Amino acid sequence: MPKKALKLKPDWEDAWNNLGKVYLDQRELEQAIACFEKVIELNELNPVAWLNYGNCLLKGVPLNVASESLEIFQKASELNPDSGQAQQNLGLILETLDRKDEAIKLFQRAVELEPDKKMWRYFLDVRLGTASADGLPPEYVTGLFDSYADDFDDHLVKNLEYNTPAKLYDVFIKKVDPERIDAGLHILDLGCGTGLSGVLFEKHKQSMVGIDLSKKMIEVAREKEIYDELIIGDMHQVMDDRPSSFDLILSVDVFVYVGDLNRTFEVAASSLKPNGYFVFSVEKHDGEGFQLAKTNRFQHAQSYLQELIEKYKFQSLQIEEHTLRKEGGLDMTGYVVVLQKL
Ligand SMILES: C[S@@+](CC[C@H](N)C(=O)[O-])C[C@H]1O[C@@H](n2cnc3c(N)ncnc32)[C@H](O)[C@@H]1O
Repeated sequence: MPKKALKLKPDWEDAWNNLGKVYLDQRELEQAIACFEKVIELNELNPVAWLNYGNCLLKGVPLNVASESLEIFQKASELNPDSGQAQQNLGLILETLDRKDEAIKLFQRAVELEPDKKMWRYFLDVRLGTASADGLPPEYVTGLFDSYADDFDDHLVKNLEYNTPAKLYDVFIKKVDPERIDAGLHILDLGCGTGLSGVLFEKHKQSMVGIDLSKKMIEVAREKEIYDELIIGDMHQVMDDRPSSFDLILSVDVFVYVGDLNRTFEVAASSLKPNGYFVFSVEKHDGEGFQLAKTNRFQHAQSYLQELIEKYKFQSLQIEEHTLRKEGGLDMTGYVVVLQKL
């Protein structure tokens, strides 16, 4: 539709903006940027074009090129003073440039402008040190992964060099009783996401259930046709509802959104069959207990895991330290953990 309009009237700013938005939604970022540049060429003060230009950059470009694009975000913020998104975007870029105080003011302004955006509120609370340590609000996790689902596999594997599922699988397969594997496992994949871990463990299944808070992630997982059952919801609930049901509970890169793991261990222990396996990854915290990092993700200390292992009567078959993926260009270290219920 916008293309037709542009044939009739090639200088129509709204049509270029609309076409750019279509490309942006389809993640055709180069074409989208070309459209917004065209609008800006026609009218340097078109607020929508600057805002969408910034949205394209945030989606497609590693943040370490932030300094080159700063002007675009500043312009978007200036021309859209009442848009929370424009203020939030500029805040994100300034934060990556280490201009933290200015960034916080912008995050505060974004929340004032759009108080319903729970993700932004939480994001601000983390920076102010006032966020709850009980775990991230489910709306935050759902919002994050619903928006991420379509690009998740590509972004994580290629851009962030994420290979935790393979690392966890390798450790698991070395430690597990081969006879038990041959018999086939009833598997529960907590926070299954798009199924990146499920595809590795599937070959050992008698059955495999995946659960995730994000409907969109579940939709992508469904396309892989590896799960016998997929559930949208909180992982603790399914474990609560199904006592002594699983031979293997796995959870890759999910406890970073949980924080206090007492409940998780408790329900995992009750939902496993005797001698069942509990395998997962966490990001490493050098201190005691766990902490919420500036990345909005929790990190857990090895001593904290050890306490939980004893408290909930697991034995540790292996805890290995690995680089799990990149974060802001740096290695992110964590543990892959293989436990067995006693
Ligand atoms: C980084 S992804 C990892 C996905 C998958 N395990 C993998 O390795 O590719 C984290 C996933 O955990 C899900 N998640 C986080 N907290 C959850 C919870 N309490 N219950 C269910 N899913 C949760 C998110 O929705 C997201 O899909």
